[in-house]
Formats: sequence, structure tokens, C-alpha cells
Amino acid sequence: MLKADGLAAGKGVIIAQNAQEAEDAIRQIMDERVFGDAGRELVIEEFLPGREMSIHVITDGESYRLLPIAQDHKKLLDGDKGPNTGGMGAYAPAPFATPELIERVEREIVRPVLASLKKDAIDFRGILYIGLIWAESGPQILEFNVRGGDPETQVLLPLLKTPLVEILRAVTEKRLGALNIEFLDLYAVTVVVAAKGYPESPRIGDPVEGLEQEVSRTFTFHGGTALKGNKCLSSGGRVASPTAWGEDLAETQGRVYEKTAQIFLAGSYYRRDIADNRNL
Ligand code: GLY
Repeated sequence: MLKADGLAAGKGVIIAQNAQEAEDAIRQIMDERVFGDAGRELVIEEFLPGREMSIHVITDGESYRLLPIAQDHKKLLDGDKGPNTGGMGAYAPAPFATPELIERVEREIVRPVLASLKKDAIDFRGILYIGLIWAESGPQILEFNVRGGDPETQVLLPLLKTPLVEILRAVTEKRLGALNIEFLDLYAVTVVVAAKGYPESPRIGDPVEGLEQEVSRTFTFHGGTALKGNKCLSSGGRVASPTAWGEDLAETQGRVYEKTAQIFLAGSYYRRDIADNRNL
């Protein structure tokens, strides 16, 4: 795994299948600077096969709560093929995240990390998003972020029963321990509609249409759009994330694709298999 060490909007990773590909990747990252200055230094890591999951911890520095476990789909193409992206779609809660698995993540990762922040006198309040792979040996951390995942946040927000503002207020006022955060007993699925040329060089400035058409229990998050006059134009790589929620994961997936198919953006692309792997 070859990673640009700086910030690359989740895209600075190349998985080399052999030594030649690894050398090419190093040249691209460090000489050609395909990820810009983020490629000034390189991180080389072992490839970890396993199931990827996104853990969102909300903490006020004293207490913490886990949000439902989400699964992101980072590769550009169906079947997890093609280059890595910031994320092409997600769903939550991941059915494979059993109470035992969650308990192990809390015991081995969440509690030690929060204790270590405290020990270092870092008064961290907010969202800690842990990207991990469940490898043969158990949970292996890929990254920590102090923000919500994109597109994971799009599937976590519709699952909150407790208003987000109440949670955030409790976090800033260190009252999280006394707040009972409730979640809806539903699934949510989001699909990213990406601009032509994403992730290398997304084309921007194209009209985005069909956003206003209604499909029940869906909502479209805007990621890379801008309003010009009364027209919605693309302004980034991951343009919009139609999101659906419902009691049944397969039915919810069907509705999110119904909504996605209504969005028109010339040359755009979206994966057709988000949440397909839920039962694997
Ligand atoms: N979905 C990956 C990220 O937000 O970094």
C-alpha cells in the first residue's frame, strides 16, 4: 500500500499488485506529484485483506457513544475495482457488526485511544472517525480522523432519533454521559454521483438536474454543487449523494437507486453495487 503522507481528500492511496506497480506508484506520487504536495513523503504499509468498516465515536472528553457502524465503498468501480476514491457510497448499520465485534473495537481501540488523549491532556470533544479493516487477526486501524466520514455521515444522520443539535450541545458542555442518544431502528444507504473524470480530474460546471423529484424517504446531500442564478452546477468530484432510509436494507437500496437514476449530470458515474455485499 503506497500512501501520500499529506492530505489528499481520501484519494492518495495506490494498491500495487507487484513490484513494478509499486515502482510506478512511487514515481507517480513522488516525482509526478499526482496528489500534489501530499506526495512529498510516502507511507508504505502492508496490504490488509479483510472487511473495511467505519467507526464513529462521539465524545465530550469524559464519556463517549458509538454511532452505528457504517461501511464505505472506496473503490471507484463496481466489484471494488479501479482506483481508490474518497468513497463512492455507504450503508449503515452494517449487519456484520455484531455486538461482540463492537465490544472488541471498544475494548481494543476506542477506550485506549480516548484514555490516551486524556492522559496527554488533550480535551478532545467531537467526532473521532476510525477507519479499520477487520483482518484475519481482528481489527486493524487504517486511519483516525477528527471529522465524520464522507459519505458515511450521509447514512448516520438519518438514523439519529435524538436531534443532532442536542448531542452537539451535550458534547460541548460535557454532558454526554447524561444524554441517552437514541437511534432509529432503520437502515440507510447512500450513493455518490461523481463527475466525469473523478477522481483524477473531475469536470465541473455542468448542470445537475432531477434533484427535486420526490422519492419517499430519500434526501439528497450536496457535496460538489454550486448555485448559479437558479441553476445547480457541478463544482467538485463527488457531486451529490442521494440517500434513502427504511426498515429493510434491500428495499432501501432499491429506493436509493430509484432516486439516483433521476439525477442527471452529463458524463457522471455512480456505482451500481452499494450495499450489495451486506451479507458476505
Ligand atoms: N469515506 C472516507 C473518508 O471520509 O475519509
